[in-house]
Amino acid sequence: MKPEAMQTDAGGALTGDPSAAGAGVPLISVRDLRVYFQTKRGRARAVDGVDLDIRDGETVGLVGETGSGKSVTARSLLRLVAMPPGVLAGGQVLYRPKERCHPCAGTQCGACGGSGRRPVVCSSCRGGGCELCEHTGRQTIDLLRAPESELRRVRGDRIAMIFQDPAKALNPGLTVRKQVSEVFLEHRSGDLLRAAGLGDGDEVGTLMRRAAHQRSNALEWVLMKVRPFSRRRARLDAAIDDAVMAALADTRIPNPRKIMSSYPHELSGGMAQRVMIAQALACDPDLLIADEPTTALDVTIQARILDLIRELQAEHGTAVLYISHDLSLVRRICDRVAVLYAGELAEVAPVDELFATPMHPYTRGLLAAIPTGHQERGRLTAIRGTVPELIDPPPACRFHTRCDAAVDLCASREPTLTEHGTGERPHRVACFAYEDAAALNVEVRDLPVLERTDT
Ligand SMILES: Nc1ncnc2c1ncn2[C@@H]1O[C@H](COP(=O)(O)OP(=O)(O)OP(=O)(O)O)[C@@H](O)[C@H]1O
Ligand SMILES: [Mg+2]
Repeated sequence: MKPEAMQTDAGGALTGDPSAAGAGVPLISVRDLRVYFQTKRGRARAVDGVDLDIRDGETVGLVGETGSGKSVTARSLLRLVAMPPGVLAGGQVLYRPKERCHPCAGTQCGACGGSGRRPVVCSSCRGGGCELCEHTGRQTIDLLRAPESELRRVRGDRIAMIFQDPAKALNPGLTVRKQVSEVFLEHRSGDLLRAAGLGDGDEVGTLMRRAAHQRSNALEWVLMKVRPFSRRRARLDAAIDDAVMAALADTRIPNPRKIMSSYPHELSGGMAQRVMIAQALACDPDLLIADEPTTALDVTIQARILDLIRELQAEHGTAVLYISHDLSLVRRICDRVAVLYAGELAEVAPVDELFATPMHPYTRGLLAAIPTGHQERGRLTAIRGTVPELIDPPPACRFHTRCDAAVDLCASREPTLTEHGTGERPHRVACFAYEDAAALNVEVRDLPVLERTDT
């Protein structure tokens, strides 16, 4: 169906409000994602059939115990899982990009709803809706199959990631300035050249980009050192310094000028984390994937980072996939939460609903394990057992070995993620306790029974 606000005139030119093209269509649709690892002991099914949508400007929390597949899911969106040992066993990651708003050139106007960015219209149907864009009217790229060159344009620019472990993510051999400036040179060289008072197509930008990638040849090295190139290079260098300084200062890192010339091993964990955050936020991405971004930080810096992410969302309509163990944090900042257990989604729900009426026994277990002020000292509720081996996970419902309500059916059939409730954001849960016995062709007494939480 043609989106209402996206009509084409007789000549095929777009009219109406392009910012509304595919309005309500998810920015990212993860479909049946399966990522396995080939190990000596067998194939570990780390992510096994994950389905998840992320809408423009939405913050989706991804929670689950350690080893449940949160990081592998997140890294798979940008094809950052090394293959081998990883194996992409199936699925799609559909990304619907946005671009700088043409009327305001990104300065935020009514046409783009004040975000400075608007959806890219499908070039095949010009917003009308065709098979290529799955009738959404928005350009649609399957990131799992896109050519590497296209993926490089998306990575770090349109979709940025803050990794769980900054020590591994930063290059130990490059200064902070070099690492953050690479993002600007790769994706924002036009802006940098303009800031340096040089033309958009100035060759110095190309030469510096090649130098940043260690691709310069001998002639280029010499050229950069002689006039007039050396002067233009100095101006561009100063513009890069300003951009890197501003990005670092945004994270409230102390003494950003000194940090710029430091190497990662000279930084504390919290500082390294903030350098990575500066890198990720540099290009105002459409989607920010934050994998436990504040674990290594003290609470005041944590609050500052969360504020930063929220500012970015408010200003540019950035969507966020926020991975965390900290459920109280997730409750504060997320719109929706997806609960992952042993590589499969157990439950997905709007945040208030998930905390008020958790449906899956695993979610209930996680929530019960949050310490509260009313608890007797020294006593915490824990889910019994541990996350199962992913090489040989329990058959059928993977949680049944730890579930107090499990019945025979849970060990013999696999529950599917079923929608409960209506609306744009339904509550989805994978548990037989909420299924219809007749539809499953079993007796009511064969279903597990859970206590109601909504009374
Ligand atoms: N390179 C790899 N080779 C083999 N197995 C891997 C590899 N990377 C991840 N795994 C396995 O995939 C599963 C999911 O790992 P993942 O890192 O996604 O967990 P997680 O939910 O992010 O945990 P945490 O909360 O500890 O960060 C784990 O069982 C892990 O051992
Ligand atoms: Mg992880």
